[in-house]
Amino acid sequence: MDIQWYPGHMAKARKQVQQNLQMVDVVIELLDARIPASSRNPDINVILKDKPRLVVLNKSDLAAPEATAAWLDYFNRNALPAVAVDAHHGAGIKKMIALTEQQARPAVQKYMSRGRLARLARCMVVGVPNVGKSMLINKLAGKKVARTGNRPGVTRGEQWIKLGSKLELLDTPGILWPKFEDPETAYKLSVTGAIKEQIYNPEEICLKLVQWLLEKAPDVLASRYKLDTIPGEIWEVIEKIGKYRGFYLSGGKIDSNKAAVFVIKEFREGRLGKFSLELP
Ligand code: G4P
Repeated sequence: MDIQWYPGHMAKARKQVQQNLQMVDVVIELLDARIPASSRNPDINVILKDKPRLVVLNKSDLAAPEATAAWLDYFNRNALPAVAVDAHHGAGIKKMIALTEQQARPAVQKYMSRGRLARLARCMVVGVPNVGKSMLINKLAGKKVARTGNRPGVTRGEQWIKLGSKLELLDTPGILWPKFEDPETAYKLSVTGAIKEQIYNPEEICLKLVQWLLEKAPDVLASRYKLDTIPGEIWEVIEKIGKYRGFYLSGGKIDSNKAAVFVIKEFREGRLGKFSLELP
């Protein structure tokens, strides 16, 4: 993520979400379908309390479909309605809107039962940086409306985006912090792109990724990078990919850093296949 979270940032982010929560009936908790546990804010249940919620697994176009199905089942079994979407291409969005509206219905009905005039249900999106909040909001709005950047900032006058005839969405997402203390979680956030380049060491991340890929899908690297054999040492695999791509430093040495950055980018973009890094 392009923000270093300090206690002050976290307190500010939490406060902003809590303020906006008062305006909505339901929260869309956006997670990365490839890492639903690691892309989850550790304090989410405390922050959202008993506010109705829909868990949305975004970037499902990049995740392993069977893993996404297992996660949806897991959330549903834990009384959290969940849906998978691909905010980039729009898959699952209609279902997401219908489920959000369904989750908000009791609050709206309660409001009207007090003799008030009918009103639209209101929702907001919350999630850690880079999970796709802006892309989802822009997709729903049909234009660029979501504020970009991952810093909880000053709330300007809120704008509402109409979703169908019964629901409206706050255009400002709630930005929350991930669970970065655990090295395994930090690795998953890095390799999927939630933590940006300047923070992690690409070669270290790539070594772990290549090792994992060789275990999970042994043929993927060989076929993508035309490797005749897979060397026993992982760093040699990365060098071989660098050689195949023609990444050389002056003096003729293979640029293994460039090769590592390249492999990570290919993985993030789904060019090596659809992979999920964790199961429920
Ligand atoms: P945020 O507001 O939660 O911080 O996330 P944002 O929408 O900025 O999305 C972060 C990155 O994830 C963007 O890529 C975006 O294109 C990508 N993304 C969001 N949703 C999806 C999805 O459903 N599928 C896929 N494949 N990608 C998704 P980026 O490389 O950081 O920027 P850019 O390529 O959009 O310029």
